[in-house]
Amino acid sequence: MKKSLIVANWKLNGNKKTIKELIYNIKKNISPTKNCEIVIAPPVIYLDYVKKLIDNTKITLAAQNVDENLTGAFTGEISVDMLKDIGVKYVIIGHSERKKYHLENKKSISQKFFLIKSANLIPILCIGETKEEHSQGKTQEICKKQIDYIIKNQGISVFENTVIAYEPIWAIGTGYYPNKYEINNISTFIRKYFKKKNKKISDSIIIQYGGSINEKNIKEIFSSSNLNGALVGNASLNGNIFCNIINKISNIKES
Ligand code: PGA
Repeated sequence: MKKSLIVANWKLNGNKKTIKELIYNIKKNISPTKNCEIVIAPPVIYLDYVKKLIDNTKITLAAQNVDENLTGAFTGEISVDMLKDIGVKYVIIGHSERKKYHLENKKSISQKFFLIKSANLIPILCIGETKEEHSQGKTQEICKKQIDYIIKNQGISVFENTVIAYEPIWAIGTGYYPNKYEINNISTFIRKYFKKKNKKISDSIIIQYGGSINEKNIKEIFSSSNLNGALVGNASLNGNIFCNIINKISNIKES
């Protein structure tokens, strides 16, 4: 059985004191999770600090972003090689907040995807539709377009051993989320879409859901058999709640 990949996306939150407490709490409260991999994505300035706190545990590290250049005069940016150098394993790209506030577009996301793979790191590619597109029934069409752009530019094989996070934009930080049928439909659609192109690659992809996950709705959301992970924002900032989510996913996958 494929492991569930549970990522805590802390966004622009935390300081040394709160991070130390949070990691302590997570280490104390997660029951042995052989079927889950837990990943922390702190603000970039704390990556190295978190790395030291999770040493000798099975918790791994993700970056929330990376630059589309490898080196040079790009003030304020961080490269894949730098992330690799300090022990990052995953890199989140294409998050809707980066598209909205930092004007990221499909071209830069595709380039980042390529650099992450070239550095042997694992991209977590966020895809998803707006509220309007959702109400027009365009979820599959939009997700397909976002995947196709990368396939068109780099070929299908670049998706081997990657992570796709289905994150409806209207569900992020809003308290709203798709019902279990919708989540099941889109995760099945994504899996089948890759399977039609290449079964081996399809089998190697982890499909996550993200958007307003909490300890109450996680059971309903995870009833889709095609999901193997969760991208958790706000609820990952509370150690007890985050651990409850992890433990519930772990139990669902075991049952
Ligand atoms: P949220 O964020 O859980 O706070 O909705 C999820 C995300 O943006 O990854």
